[in-house]
Amino acid sequence: MKDLFAQAKELDAADPLAEFRDRFVISPAAAPQKDLIYLDGNSLGRLPKATRERMRTALDDEWGAELVRGWDHWITLAREAGDALATGVLGVDPGEALLCDTASINLYKLAEAACDARPGRTVIITDDDNFPSDQYVLQGVAQRRGLRLEVIRADLDRGTTTEDVAAAIARCAPDSVALISLQHVAYRSGNVADMVAVTRLAHDAGALVLWDLCHSAGAVPTPLREAAADLAVGCTYKHLNGGPGAPGFLYVRGDLHEQLRQPIWGWFGQTDQFAMGFDYRPVPAIERFQVSTTPVLAGYAALEGIRVTQAAGMDRIWAKTRAMGAYAEQLFDAWLAPHGLELASPRGDRGAHITLHHPAAWQLCQAWKAAGVIPDFRTPDRLRIGFAPLYTTFAEIHEGFARLRTIVESRSYEAFPVERSRVT
Ligand SMILES: Cc1ncc(COP(=O)(O)O)c(C=O)c1O
Repeated sequence: MKDLFAQAKELDAADPLAEFRDRFVISPAAAPQKDLIYLDGNSLGRLPKATRERMRTALDDEWGAELVRGWDHWITLAREAGDALATGVLGVDPGEALLCDTASINLYKLAEAACDARPGRTVIITDDDNFPSDQYVLQGVAQRRGLRLEVIRADLDRGTTTEDVAAAIARCAPDSVALISLQHVAYRSGNVADMVAVTRLAHDAGALVLWDLCHSAGAVPTPLREAAADLAVGCTYKHLNGGPGAPGFLYVRGDLHEQLRQPIWGWFGQTDQFAMGFDYRPVPAIERFQVSTTPVLAGYAALEGIRVTQAAGMDRIWAKTRAMGAYAEQLFDAWLAPHGLELASPRGDRGAHITLHHPAAWQLCQAWKAAGVIPDFRTPDRLRIGFAPLYTTFAEIHEGFARLRTIVESRSYEAFPVERSRVT
């Protein structure tokens, strides 16, 4: 086998996205250690340089100088960012996506709208590997509406399969399923669901399907159009590099807009909003899923992040996501599996992270951070290691895994506390 370091060098040299790293702030000033290796872009992406500049002009030239007159152009920001997302990231038509609220709030709005559109149906299907916020939102929707939640018991390391979904539908009475809501890329294992096959199953059952794209957007192509998927939500602070707490987004297939009504009737969804009329008449377009005033500063930050992804192109991003995952798998097999770490992700294609299991994962996580590498810890006993296609290098993956090997070989992690901090 070719030397693993030589492989990293070759892969970096041949990386068509290599120049994108320079579009991000990667300064020693931003890091406590000079040689910090950031493997957590799937929680919070790095700061694009363009965003820093955009924030300055948004503050000085727009808010500072234009004052309320800025609304003449801010009024379309949610749609402008939605269109950039639709065409540059999600592969759908302009007018099918909108930047607004957060992933969880958008999930609530679309789940309610979907259930309203399937009156008389009594079941929502999800899985117990779904992101907790999604589970809670769906539990709340089901409880309030008197529906039953059919929960697929997923294998945490393999994720929910198409067969699992088919079996769940088969357990329900005919014509009873209103909605199926799942992650496209599983937040824990990185498993990629077969969106096309699952959507087909949902449609065959007469249900609508609602995808969580938080870990896909900007890392993995989303075949929403090919699948004729109905609904989706996501966030922009992970692989879209929109900044901490950046707004979320929603997608609604074009032909569904006028059939669906979301539960929070706000003035940003109203026809002729500034007529200030009494009766709610939602616009016959994606903006009917907006509720409130657009968060302009955060929205600009999200838009700049989306534009970097758009410039790189999802084809090239997906090729690098796959290559980084395959390279990390090799390092895991050669260096970490012999020391008791186990793969907690599917082999082959995944989202842009790999997850490893070890009984002392929390201590390993802290020891790794102390050695200048930032991963995530996820329950139960898992290290989640993210590779950001736009700025992670293969050499960084090599060096990061080498530091982890030293930690497990020397058992230096045993000196770190077993009690977890509030944020993991
Ligand atoms: C897969 C997934 N879904 C939903 C959420 C919730 O996002 P938000 O807090 O923006 O609503 C997250 C947050 O990390 C996530 O990873």
